[in-house]
Amino acid sequence: MATMRDVAARANVSVATVSHVINGTRFVDPQTVDRVRLAIEALGYRPNSLARGLRRSETSTIGMLLPDNSNPFFGEIARAIEDVGFTQGYNVILCNSDGSEAKEAAYVDTLLSKQIDGIILISSGNSFAPLHTILNAGVPCVVIDRELGDLAVDQVLIDNEYGGYLAGQYLVRLGHQRMGYIAGPNQLSLSAHRLTGFKRALNEAGLMLPDAAMVPGDFLYTGGAEGMRTLLRRDLGLTAVFAANDRMAVGAISVLQRAGLNVPQDISVVGYDNIPLANAMWPSLTTIAQPMTEMGQTGISLLLERIKRRDENLPPRRVMLPVRLVERESCRRLAEQAA
Ligand code: RIB
Repeated sequence: MATMRDVAARANVSVATVSHVINGTRFVDPQTVDRVRLAIEALGYRPNSLARGLRRSETSTIGMLLPDNSNPFFGEIARAIEDVGFTQGYNVILCNSDGSEAKEAAYVDTLLSKQIDGIILISSGNSFAPLHTILNAGVPCVVIDRELGDLAVDQVLIDNEYGGYLAGQYLVRLGHQRMGYIAGPNQLSLSAHRLTGFKRALNEAGLMLPDAAMVPGDFLYTGGAEGMRTLLRRDLGLTAVFAANDRMAVGAISVLQRAGLNVPQDISVVGYDNIPLANAMWPSLTTIAQPMTEMGQTGISLLLERIKRRDENLPPRRVMLPVRLVERESCRRLAEQAA
């Protein structure tokens, strides 16, 4: 009867490496994995755990499908996922959907064709189709950030309505009454939630957000810049602007400064996400911080548990993580309003 030592000798690796390949307890480069698996087949080595692994065609590989990892928000989440995956012996394949449902669907097909063990999905929009494809294939999946309704799937989410409320409450407390809003993409439910919370805070203070003070946005630097130009052209006498993510807030601040306006003296600006640039820039950006690292860590942990306990048919879990206001230099208190 062949032993693990025999497999190690035939594959020219250590016994520990054979164990890591069999149990998925640490990342092993694909070429070595192939050598070990060939040795196992040649020698007929079949411990229970290996037979179970081969029967399920486990590949110790996770797919991570998200809109755009060049956005530091997604980059921070992706990094957290890859770090945990590596320590648990999983390779992580990163796929950027670029916000395209067609590209997202193509990547789902590609990942499923590679016998992936599980998928972490940050959706390109509100379509359930890619998620249904994954679940129908019987592949474990965790949704992060962009809620996909009450589907029977693990979700790691943020209370975006409260995040928008925090931004509005903060500016009201600083004495601002004429505020603008640069919106997130309207195909995302989280964009609507942030606006709802922002309006709720203003309404509690007896203030309104006029339609003219709201402009569409796309979560990009350029979208924030364009939105800010539009608000300036409307000459609304704004003293503060809330942008639905940090990249748009950065774009808005660059337009204000190029127009000879001072942030925060002339206009205060609040963002959303708390990407590293928010703290590094000048003036540093007041923002609503999303726990990016914790979002990634929670998502991969839920996924690996579901993979390892896939025979137990665990009920779907919905984890809501907190947001918090991070006060920096881009906002100021207004002098007491004239009576
Ligand atoms: O910056 C990217 C935005 O899209 C973030 O606010 C995040 O919530 C994602 O959905």
